[in-house]
This record gives sequence, structure tokens and C-alpha cells, in this order.
Amino acid sequence: MEINLTVDGTPRESKPDERLIELINRIGLKVPQVCYHPQLGPIQTCDTCMVEVDGKLVRACATHVAPRMNVSTTSARAVAAQREAFDRILGNHMLYCTVCDNNNGNCTVHNTTKLMAVEHQKIPFETKPYEVDNSNPFYRYDPDQCILCGRCVEACQNVEVNETLSIRWEDPHPRVLWDGGKPIGESSCVSCGHCVTVCPCNALMEKSMVGKAGFLTALPKTALAGMIDIVKGVEPDTGYGAILKVSEAESAMRESRIRRTKTVCTYCGVGCSFDVWTKDRQILKVEPREGPTNGISTCIKGKFGWDFVNSSDRLTKPLIREGSKFRESSWDEALGLVARRLAEIKARRGPDSLAFISSSKCTNEESYLMQKLARAVIGTNNMDNCSRYCQAPATMGLFRTVGYGGDSGSIKDIENASLVIIIGSNTAEAHPVLATRVKRAHKLRGQKLIVSDLRKHEMAERADLFLHPKPGTDLVWISAITRYILDNGLAKTSFLEKWVNGLEEYKKSLGPFTMEFAAETCGLPIETLKKVADMIVEAEGVCVLWAMGVTQHSMGSDTSTAISNLLLVTGNYMRTGTGAYPLRGHNNVQGASDHGAMPNYLPGYQLVDDPEVRARFEAGWKVKLPSTKGLDNKEMIDAIHLGKLKAMYLFGEEISLVDSNKNVVDGGLAKLDFFVVQDIFFSDTCRFADVVLPASPSLEKEGTFTSTERRIQRLYEVFEPLEGSRPDWRIIQEIANRLGADWNFKHPSEIYAEIASLTPLFAGVTYERLEGYKSLQWPVAADGTDQPLLYEKQFNFPDGKARLFPLTYSEPGDRVNDEFDLHLNNGRLLEHFHEGNMTYRSAGIREQTPDTFVEVSPELATERRIKTGAWVQLVSRYGQVRVRALVTDRVQGKELYMPMNSSESPVNRLTSSFTDKVTHTPAYKEASVRMLVLGENGESPLPRGNPRFGHRTPQRGVEVERKWKRPEYRVPGSPMLFHATKTKANGGSGT
Ligand code: SF4
Ligand code: SF4
Ligand code: SF4
Ligand code: FES
Repeated sequence: MEINLTVDGTPRESKPDERLIELINRIGLKVPQVCYHPQLGPIQTCDTCMVEVDGKLVRACATHVAPRMNVSTTSARAVAAQREAFDRILGNHMLYCTVCDNNNGNCTVHNTTKLMAVEHQKIPFETKPYEVDNSNPFYRYDPDQCILCGRCVEACQNVEVNETLSIRWEDPHPRVLWDGGKPIGESSCVSCGHCVTVCPCNALMEKSMVGKAGFLTALPKTALAGMIDIVKGVEPDTGYGAILKVSEAESAMRESRIRRTKTVCTYCGVGCSFDVWTKDRQILKVEPREGPTNGISTCIKGKFGWDFVNSSDRLTKPLIREGSKFRESSWDEALGLVARRLAEIKARRGPDSLAFISSSKCTNEESYLMQKLARAVIGTNNMDNCSRYCQAPATMGLFRTVGYGGDSGSIKDIENASLVIIIGSNTAEAHPVLATRVKRAHKLRGQKLIVSDLRKHEMAERADLFLHPKPGTDLVWISAITRYILDNGLAKTSFLEKWVNGLEEYKKSLGPFTMEFAAETCGLPIETLKKVADMIVEAEGVCVLWAMGVTQHSMGSDTSTAISNLLLVTGNYMRTGTGAYPLRGHNNVQGASDHGAMPNYLPGYQLVDDPEVRARFEAGWKVKLPSTKGLDNKEMIDAIHLGKLKAMYLFGEEISLVDSNKNVVDGGLAKLDFFVVQDIFFSDTCRFADVVLPASPSLEKEGTFTSTERRIQRLYEVFEPLEGSRPDWRIIQEIANRLGADWNFKHPSEIYAEIASLTPLFAGVTYERLEGYKSLQWPVAADGTDQPLLYEKQFNFPDGKARLFPLTYSEPGDRVNDEFDLHLNNGRLLEHFHEGNMTYRSAGIREQTPDTFVEVSPELATERRIKTGAWVQLVSRYGQVRVRALVTDRVQGKELYMPMNSSESPVNRLTSSFTDKVTHTPAYKEASVRMLVLGENGESPLPRGNPRFGHRTPQRGVEVERKWKRPEYRVPGSPMLFHATKTKANGGSGT
């Protein structure tokens, strides 16, 4: 139903939920709005959006439309109030735009000065009694320039939900505070950059911008101060109008040298997208704006973790092994050698003596070409990618039960759930931006949260219910509560009848999973398990999120299946706010598998042994294709040891550090007759190569990535490839052609056109449909219709029904005993990505998290008499590492945790060769060690400046009511003191 009202004398129509500010902006009226940001909602701190409604002054940002409203944005009272409010703002901010790094056409203070045609400010600028805070490696805060709009506080409290920022409105000179008044570098700030992104002026700014963006801003401080004095000196005579003209001319000049290019994050699978601002090869800043997944959000890696691209140790020349050394070579020589040796080995030992490993850091188009090289040029299905190390079991669990190996919906659907269950995922560190949406829904909308994990990480701390089961037993408690729900008549029978097959057989398989068995096996009280069951049954919609804490176990596929079974029994599919969400690790791990970098699937999960499928690809590629499943990563290493696999071509994959049981993997790689590694750095894996080819990172290429939401997004070339390096797709094409193919792709869009023509799942994907920030969530029909909610009309089986899949439980592989008495868990750390090949090259990240460590519980530390900083030797059945201890109650009892970011002490020296039985995903999380205390004490492996030592200051937002209670505060345009409190009627906090 439309709402009819009048704005500035013109009848207008509005949607019922619209705010006045939204309507005003939609119809293009110019009303100042300094603190309003569409993704933050009304903050109500600036008062510049005052308009007259039916004779009363109101804030347009906080007022909802109502029938027959008469709104004036230009009445004398409204304009006087707007002007008075903005004058107060200018009293807090010195306008020196011409020499300001924020003078880039998007400064809200500058633009509002211009919009309101301010010539002279009535309230003179007064400096505040605080120093600039430079203590964070990535951004700085200048209190003197801060207009106290509170956008940063709102973003930190209610979007990022790190709850670091506040403003103490009662202070004589309020300013933004970190942890209530700590230097930024000693606070809980996780450097996600939300605050910097939303700051409407130069108060918060990326250090990479300071002195770099403007033509005059690099001047020494004293010269800059002199210039600012000159600007301020002429203002009384000339007015701001003339001064702004100069600054606008300077800003326009910047456009000739500052480029803004859209890209998609290269780190985790959340799929954040943003503009990268560059000047030549310098990155000035990363600006998230309108990414379909992330909006204004990023984490430390996406916002600040890009130094690696211009690192001085990028590979720029191909390398050829000579004995134990490498020598530089020309591209021609290296490519010639690769083609010749691959052809020779194929001729001598057959195509299946070669294997190919694709990169889940690289594009869909590159994975497609790699598998095409393996299949169409060499003739083998020995093709895999690192989803084998993480997500293959989740995919299997979903294939078995609902038919597609992808998230059931979008991150927005997770936000809509009334209950979120997180199992085996340190979401706030491994998928930070996705975690913000859960934290926000939990904080502001009463969403309930259950977390099951070995560690009390941030999400566990925030949870309504935290379960700590014994390692490797998730399948048991999940199956037990499913049985309890069925036994007690609490299942969604209407859903089961309509949409699910296999109930009777499944019920029988649940026989052993009694509450008593679960309590005993998992170490969880029966009452707790019943509470979980009740919460699920009572919830309107349940989403389950899981990650490597589930999949990297010998029962990874079965536990993933158990999760999906539970969702089916409780009817939690086919609606927003429900479903299964395996959280994909790498930026393009979903896409690499989707595009055929797997031993049994051609692109789009089309089986290699399906003659119809093969016939289509054979016609398209004009070759005969191999029909039997190839080797996966694990089988490849085994086959090398058995002497069956002789050559390997791998790109963008640090297999030597990230595969489990490193000693066995390294031993295998060393045995290869010929090994090609393509990467941007000389990785640990390169040590075993015969030829190393220098590739280009994501910022130096075009293509597409597919995020955990099945969202396909385009990335554009930010920089030309560093001289000497090449985008992977060009290298793969060159090798294919030297092996006799006749590929002629000139741009990745042409590769995608071929993919779409052969793959029903992506039939309607085109670069035009993905232009800019547009995206598509597969499956994509030929007409371009995509499917954000995966199962709307049916499940992906011929009869459209889902399948309950019976399971049994067996115990983990590498178990603790008297000799190896401690369980070693392992995984990611917020600041680093995986082994750290990219993130260690960021000075700021290295400063905050310089090394790996092992987390030791306080009780174990007391027992073994160690303190934080003590050096210990961890010894497993497979290897040993020396590492410093960090004593923390994130872990309990005899459970340890070791982040995987180290090449000197990689955790995979300790892990075993046990795997998930179905997918061969290594059981990384099932490691047992003993700990030798080395008797040396070092410094804490985490410096004091690490945010983990900070103390958050949660509050509901900027709490503007406290500002309104200041004795001198009055609403602009009103002589009255204003003691209003926020109500639903006036718009609430907007969050
Ligand atoms: S955590 Fe730090 S960087 Fe992120 S919004 Fe809060 S203060 Fe800003
Ligand atoms: S630092 Fe925060 S309060 Fe100050 S101007 Fe920037 S966003 Fe507004
Ligand atoms: S690492 Fe993940 S959460 Fe962080 S910015 Fe990149 S995609 Fe987003
Ligand atoms: S825009 Fe600041 S109060 Fe409305």
C-alpha cells in the first residue's frame, strides 16, 4: 500500500516503511544529512537533516512517512535549523580541504558546506585537548577533525559488532574512545576498517592515504600548517565559496591519477567486494561500498592486507632447477621445457602418470582451463583442488541429502534465522564479515545462537548456549537430538511427508543414538542436549553453519550429513532463515570445484563417467575424454610414493604446508620426475619444483570468483601484471597450445562463454550480467535468472524430494593415549590467511601477529609449570615442532590449539594421514601430541598490542540520548532544551 503525502508542495507516493530521508533522497531533493548513512540507519547526532512536518521540526532521518504528511525541506525554519546544526559541526572541524587527503569529491563535510553555500561559519573552530592517535598500524584518528557524528561508533558497535568504540557524551570535550579511552593500538580494535570506511571526513583515515592522495598533502608538517594558516587567513575576506573552488580544482586534478577499481577479496570465501584506490602501483585504500555480500564491511585482511602484491620478493622470472639450485630463465625456455617434459612423460607412462592441481585462490576461468588442460589435452581426470583439504565432506553431506553442494541461501537468509547453530567454526576469525551479520542479528534482533566447539572463541562467548563436546563426536550429539525430536513427536511431519524420502530406514539407523549414548560419548549433559533440541523445535527458522571443525575429521562427510538430516527432520529448508551453510574457506574454493577442478566431475558437477555429459564436452572440445574418475590430492601423493604418478602441474596452492602429514607429502613431492609450480612467491612447495612459473595475483587479472553463497562476482584488473609475471589463465593456455591445443582466449569473458555453453548450472552467466557490482547466485538459467534461495520449489533429485541418509558412528583416527596425551586442534587466526604467504608480507599484520603459537589451558599450564612465552616442543606420531605457548582459557584441559600460519613450525608436521573415509579430506583436527617443556622462556608470541588483550565496551550504538542530555544541548531551531528519547515512532536507532 502506497502512502500519499506532500513534500515541498508536491504530492508524493511512498512505501509504508520508508523514512523521510529515504524518500527525500529517492526523489532527488537536496537536504543536508551528515550523520546519515543508508547502511547504518539514523544515528541522529548531527541534526542537519531537520525538516518541517506539519509545522513541527523533525529529523528526516528518524521520521517515518505517514499518510497526508505535509513536509517542507526548504521552509525558513527548516533551513535555519539545518544551518545552525551544520555550524555546530564546523565548530568541530577545520576546513583545509585543498591540503587534505580526503578531498576526493566524497567528503561529506566539504560537500555539505558547498550544498548549504556556507560562506562563513558562525561558531569558530576550536581545537580539542587531544593528540592525533597513530598507534594502529593501518589507520589514524585526529580528534581535532572529528565532528562527533558517531557513524564510526555505530559501525563498530552494530555492524562489525566488535564493540570497541564509544563516545562519552558527558565529557567536557567528547571524542571517540577505543575501549573507553585506550590508545587504538592497545585496544580491542581488530582493524576491520568499518569505522574508517564510514567516517564522513578526515578524522579517521587509512595511513596509506595520508600524505599520498593529494598534490599538496605530502608537504612537511610545518609547511602544511603554514598553508592551512593561509587558507584560514583568507577565509574572512573571500568566504568558503572561493576556497572550495580551489579545493575542487585540486580534487578534480586527483581524478587523473587516482583510479578506483572494483575487485573481490582474495582471502576467505565470504566474497566481499570493494573498490581499490590506486595511484600508479600504490594502494591508497580499499573502499567497500555496495558489495552485495558485504556492503561497507571488510575484515583486516580485505581492508588492509594487500602489501603482498607489491612485495619486493614477488617472482618475476621463471626458474629452472639445476641440481639443488634454480636459475632464472626466459618464459620461452621455461614454457618449452614444461611442454616437452609433460609430453615425454605422457608418451612414456601414459596420461594417468600426470596430475594437475588447481588453485582455489585463482579464478573460475583459470580452474576451468586447468581441468580442460588435464582432460582435453593430456587425457587424464587426475585433477583436484584444495576443497579436498576442507570442504569436500560438506559438499558430500549435501549431495547425499539435498542434492546440491552449496549453501542453501545467502548470508541475508542467515541473518533472518531465529536460531543459528555454529558447529566447528571460529566464524569471527575465519569468516569475519559473515560473523558480523550473525553478531548483529544476535545483538539487535534477538536471534538465538548455539555454538559447539572445542574452543571458547568469540562466537562461543557470545552464544546463548555453548557446547564443548569431546573432539570428533559432533555426529553423535547431532544424531541423538534428531532421534529425540523424532521420538517425542516434535519433528515437522508435514514437511517430511511432502518433501523427504527415506524416513523409516533413517529412523532405524538412529537406534544407537540415545541421549545416554550421546552424553557418554560427547561428554555433554543430557539436559543440555534436550535444551538444544527444544531450542531447535521452538525456533521459527534454523540455520546451521559449519566449517573445518566438522569437515576435517575422519567422519567429516557423515557429520555434515547428520547436520542436513537434522535440518530435514525439523523442516528447516526451503525458506529464508533456514538451511545448511558450510562456510567455504578460500575466496574461490566453491568456484574451483564448481568449474571442474575435481577428479570425478566436469564443470557444473557433471560426472566424468556419464556418457551423455562426456559426449557434450567431447563435441565442444573436439577431443575424446577419459571416462574413469581420476586421483584426488591424497591419492596423488600415495600414487607418487607407489611410483605410479610421475609428473605434476600445480598452481596457486601451498600443498607442502597445507596438506596434512607434511613429512609424507614432502617425501612424495621430492620423488616426482617433473614438477611445475606456478605461484606469485617462491613458496615452500617451490622447493620441490623443476620449473617455477611467476604468476599474477587477483589484483592483476580479470575473471570471476564464486563465494560461499554460490555468488559469482567479477574482478577487474587493478594493476597490470607485475613485469615478468603473467595471469594464470594466460600461462595455462600457453602450455596447452605448446602441447598441441589450439586455444585462443583473448579475455576471461570468452572462457566464461565456453563454460556457460557446456554447463547447465551456469547457462545464463555472462560478463554483462556480472558487470560492476552485479552478481549471480547459481544455478543460473539461460535467461539469467539465478537462485539466491537454493531450494524453493524442490530439492535437487529427480523426484524433487530430499533424502534422509542413515549413518553410523566410528571413533576418530589419531587418538590420544598415554604417550601422546594431548589433543591438538588447529586452524586459522583472524589476521592471517592459512600459512601466511600473503599476510606475513603486510608489515601491520606482522606487527600484530608475528608468529604462530600453541594455546595452552590455564589448568594444563599450571600442571606443566609453564607461562605464556615458554618454548615447548610438540611431538606427534608423525613429526615435531618447536613453538611458544600462549596460556588462555579459550582452550580447556588437555586440548591445545595451534594456528596454522607458520612455515617454520607448520602444524602439518604434526598431523596424520588419516582422512575422511568418503572424500579423503585429511583429518587435520584429529591430532594427538605430547608436549615437552624446553625450559626457556621467551616473550609472549602475541604482542601486547594484539586486540585479543583489549576490553570491549558494548553498548547499543552511539547512544545519542546522552548527547541530548548535555546541559547546553538544544534542538536546532528550537529555544527549548530537548530531552527526547528515541522511540519506535521516531525511527529508533535504525539498526
Ligand atoms: S574494530 Fe577497530 S577498525 Fe573495526 S570498526 Fe571497531 S574501531 Fe574501527
Ligand atoms: S571519527 Fe567517528 S565520530 Fe568522528 S567524524 Fe569520523 S565517523 Fe564521525
Ligand atoms: S577475508 Fe573474507 S571476510 Fe575478510 S574482507 Fe576478505 S572476503 Fe571479506
Ligand atoms: S542526518 Fe544526522 S540527524 Fe539526521
